[in-house]
Amino acid sequence: MCGIVGYLGKRDAYPILIKGLKRLEYRGYDSAGVALLDEQGDLRVYKTKGKVADLEAYVADKNAGGTVGIAHTRWATHGEPNSTNAHPHVANSGNLAIIHNGIIENYAVIKRQLEAKGVVFHSQTDTEVLVQLIDYVQTTRQVDLLTAVRIALHTVIGAYAIAVLDKNNPDVLIAARKSSPLVVGIGDEEFFLGSDASPIIEYTDRVIYLNDQDVAVIRRGHDVEVVDFYNEKVEHDITRVNLNLAQIEKGGFPHFMLKEIYEQPDCLRDCVRGRINSEANHIALSAIIDHKERLTKARRIIIVACGTSWHAGLIGKQLIEQYCQLPVQVEYASEFRYSNPVISEHDVVIALSQSGETADTLAAIELARERGAFVYGICNAIGASIPRATHTGSYIHVGPEIGVASTKAFTGQVTVLAMLALALAWERGTVSEEEYVRVIAALNEIPDKMQELLEQGEKIRDISRIFTYARNFLYLGRGYNYPVALEGALKLKEISYIHAEGYPAAEMKHGPIALIDEEMPVVVIATQNALYEKVLSNIQEIKARHARVIAIVSKGDDTVSQLADAAIELPSTEECLEPLLATIPLQMLAYYIAVCKGKDVDQPRNLAKSVTVE
Ligand code: AGP
Ligand code: GLU
Repeated sequence: MCGIVGYLGKRDAYPILIKGLKRLEYRGYDSAGVALLDEQGDLRVYKTKGKVADLEAYVADKNAGGTVGIAHTRWATHGEPNSTNAHPHVANSGNLAIIHNGIIENYAVIKRQLEAKGVVFHSQTDTEVLVQLIDYVQTTRQVDLLTAVRIALHTVIGAYAIAVLDKNNPDVLIAARKSSPLVVGIGDEEFFLGSDASPIIEYTDRVIYLNDQDVAVIRRGHDVEVVDFYNEKVEHDITRVNLNLAQIEKGGFPHFMLKEIYEQPDCLRDCVRGRINSEANHIALSAIIDHKERLTKARRIIIVACGTSWHAGLIGKQLIEQYCQLPVQVEYASEFRYSNPVISEHDVVIALSQSGETADTLAAIELARERGAFVYGICNAIGASIPRATHTGSYIHVGPEIGVASTKAFTGQVTVLAMLALALAWERGTVSEEEYVRVIAALNEIPDKMQELLEQGEKIRDISRIFTYARNFLYLGRGYNYPVALEGALKLKEISYIHAEGYPAAEMKHGPIALIDEEMPVVVIATQNALYEKVLSNIQEIKARHARVIAIVSKGDDTVSQLADAAIELPSTEECLEPLLATIPLQMLAYYIAVCKGKDVDQPRNLAKSVTVE
């Protein structure tokens, strides 16, 4: 989604704002803009379609002075991407400028009401309605900016993170949020705003994560004040952020995605740290310790998620059913939230989300809570909306994931799900001590085995070069590796723009086999597990139709390697943990094919890192 940055303090605002927008580029956008109050108190707004670099070039010969400003990268929902619809939007009085992330659902009604009162609009956006409404309230009721914003927000339905500046109040910034993330940074005589902490941490590690319906009043020379829509003071914590710049820089890699693929071994070591006690061969997840009764007595588990997180959920289902003997259903959050689900206080809902801001997943959580379910969040972004909306949860601790295509968050989620399944099974007495200890030991070995796999990077790059011709791919897997096939197909789709479908291997003969010919490469996860012989037959069926096969095989398997056109060997591990390894070559295959095709790997077209709108 879009990026919001704000500054009020002792330094020139513009350099901080433009650098902040660059730190948020990974969130996806189509236009960008900045509003500044210059030394004479004049409001200057510059905005362009395209990248932040285009905005920077546009502003290069303009007056960009002033110590207070707001800046925005837009991901259009209402009104095409162009310089008119780009943010900031300015009120007709010429006094106010606003930037906004989210959707004003009832913007059309408000717009008609304001037009009936003679208010003129200049853009097609929902956002402009909000700034004209604030302006209308301030002008007609002669109230201060904070009061005008609070009154306006009372009438607004929808999701928003906003920042507003007023040329008649150059020492004040007003910020507010509902469903879209917004963070306030507190420096030395200076304040910052960001959609997340990444544009702020260069200047301060002290932040306030705003909650829904919080309105923050940032005033030069004062402490930040947070009130609700009724102007009642809201208690707020000042959190120390432990992010560092290196974590959000590329670290010498050509793309964030490749960096994040290669840092998975270390990320999984961070993920299990303090949770797997290797000496005692025991798993300790605080969420399970704190809510043992509710979790062990659950009659059913429902996993809600989107995209890659949904694929992780499919693996979680198999892990929990295998070890906890609990029925698990996996739902797309976007379907769940409108399906009028039959859930009760006997159900546990697990919400999976890397960003912790996905609107559909957040809405699914709210529905589950309304229906009495106990909600457990598994998230990566510390302090995000989803961790604050669930009853409990476990962070995956893989560090900020900047590449839009999720990689380390997927393996982090699967790792937490494996620990959750084993820990819950131990509490429920549904796993033998021998198996519990054995799988924990195998989980501890995964990072080293991942490292061994990553050393095949050049081989996978060479393989990928052969397949850049393809316009369609099929990915096949069975059992625990079926979700890996789905995830591998999604990776390829979203960064190379090649159509790819994942299927259970046996399903191939129920239709997809009609597609198979020499133009359609097939990726098959054919590791030596219980279903190996069946998958072998599938590969023979594919070869009989002259398609090329890329096989993910167990180390030392010569049979499939001779049949396939290319084979990548996996170190052995427990079958239930194989997804953690099998996904690595598929991540790399997608990455290298996309690079060969010259695609924007970190910011694929049309995609956003966090989909905070429906
Ligand atoms: C994954 O590569 C995609 N970027 C996308 O499917 C993503 O997984 C989905 O939007 C869910 O995001 P979340 O995990 O942050 O909720
Ligand atoms: N709905 C607003 C618009 O279309 C904001 C979109 C965004 O979050 O960037 O301009």
